[in-house]
Amino acid sequence: MDGNGRWAKQRNLPRHAGHIAGVETVREVVRISAELGIGVLTLFAFSSENWRRPREEVGLLMNLFLTALQREITRLHKNQVQLRIIGDRTALPKPLQDKIDSAETLTQHNTGLKLVIAANYGGHWDLTQAARQLYEQIRAGQITPEDVTQERLGAHTCLANLPDPDLFIRTGGEQRISNFLLWQLAYTELYFTETLWPDFNTTAFQQALRFYATRQRRFGRTGDQIQQDTP
Ligand code: FPP
Repeated sequence: MDGNGRWAKQRNLPRHAGHIAGVETVREVVRISAELGIGVLTLFAFSSENWRRPREEVGLLMNLFLTALQREITRLHKNQVQLRIIGDRTALPKPLQDKIDSAETLTQHNTGLKLVIAANYGGHWDLTQAARQLYEQIRAGQITPEDVTQERLGAHTCLANLPDPDLFIRTGGEQRISNFLLWQLAYTELYFTETLWPDFNTTAFQQALRFYATRQRRFGRTGDQIQQDTP
């Protein structure tokens, strides 16, 4: 969700105004995703590197996450959204951690859209913590080093029981992954747009989905093989 700062700057507003506008886009994108029957929506809200931002901006962002969660959770629950936060939450302010815990518990049995929010998340962190879990299992004698397979490592990453993303959208013009879901994006279709996150409206989202619809997903196979298998 890139481009909040620039959106605000274009309007001579403080950067935080861009983040506030960004929350409105989040609400809209969640609504459309649920409406379209999209199974999982994962939003990158705060990376493990975002702590390097000015202290004031980080503090305001943490407050914004807390108030957005407080304000939206009832509506999300009512709409059957299942909320999950990924990332190292131990570094988040305690009130935010508590709110995350209660929001996840409240919505855990919901059957609609799975909304995953990455907060203090980094792909490097995710793989490191997965490796550490496997190491602990080896140390405890539960598995041997030969048991460390691709499947088992993947099963200890944050999105273990969810499908890998089909489509990655980055707003704000940068064309990089920036330490997002490094393991899970291996075969994901990548979509980059100049549109700043607060301007990412229904039309922009539909455009991204149309791009996705034109892609042929080969997963290492040839185009001819895919066509033969398509009825
Ligand atoms: C990146 O834009 C945006 C962030 C680091 C914060 C994203 C947060 C929100 C959209 C708030 C709502 C989120 C939830 C889940 C309630 P930037 O600040 O880097 O923009 P710039 O590149 O223009 O400076």
